[in-house]
Amino acid sequence: MYEIFQLIHKALFFVVMILGLAVLVKAAMGLSGKTAFAETDRKLGLFFMISNHTQLLIGLILYLFLSPFGLKAFTDFGSEVMKIAEYRKIAVEHISTNIIAIILITIGYSKNKRAIDSAVRHKNALIFYGLGLVLLLSRIPWDKLF
Ligand code: HEM
Repeated sequence: MYEIFQLIHKALFFVVMILGLAVLVKAAMGLSGKTAFAETDRKLGLFFMISNHTQLLIGLILYLFLSPFGLKAFTDFGSEVMKIAEYRKIAVEHISTNIIAIILITIGYSKNKRAIDSAVRHKNALIFYGLGLVLLLSRIPWDKLF
């Protein structure tokens, strides 16, 4: 079970990155070319947000029940995890930073649902999805990914 969730979490990482990159490139092109915020722009943002929410769900299952680098790191008496910086990064920083990133991405999408002006919507996408992506990238346990 643990391996299956690890695999899904890893595979979704690539989905999130590809969608995140696409959403930012589209927003930058839309803003510089002064083009309308199209239905494809909205849908890309929606899929980016959904992939992050799915990642949040899988990540929380790993964190709460399966991974030695989640809650178990705090509860296992004598756990070595908290003594090693790379592992502590998952137990503490990965979860907290990623929750903030996913909140920002969700705010970006809901702001764009209400906004009407295309330039504002492209800008919202660039700022909120961009900040979210930077935060995500700053706390990926790269050594465990590959
Ligand atoms: C806030 C929600 C999240 C939680 C609670 C969470 C939790 C975890 C946990 C517990 C691990 C260690 C798994 C293991 O035992 O090996 C992990 C690893 C990892 N996470 Fe997350 N994660 C979250 C969000 C994300 C997001 C949004 C991404 C990227 C888009 C991501 C990418 C990764 C990667 C690449 C690994 C290393 C692969 C692995 O160890 O399986 N996580 N995460």
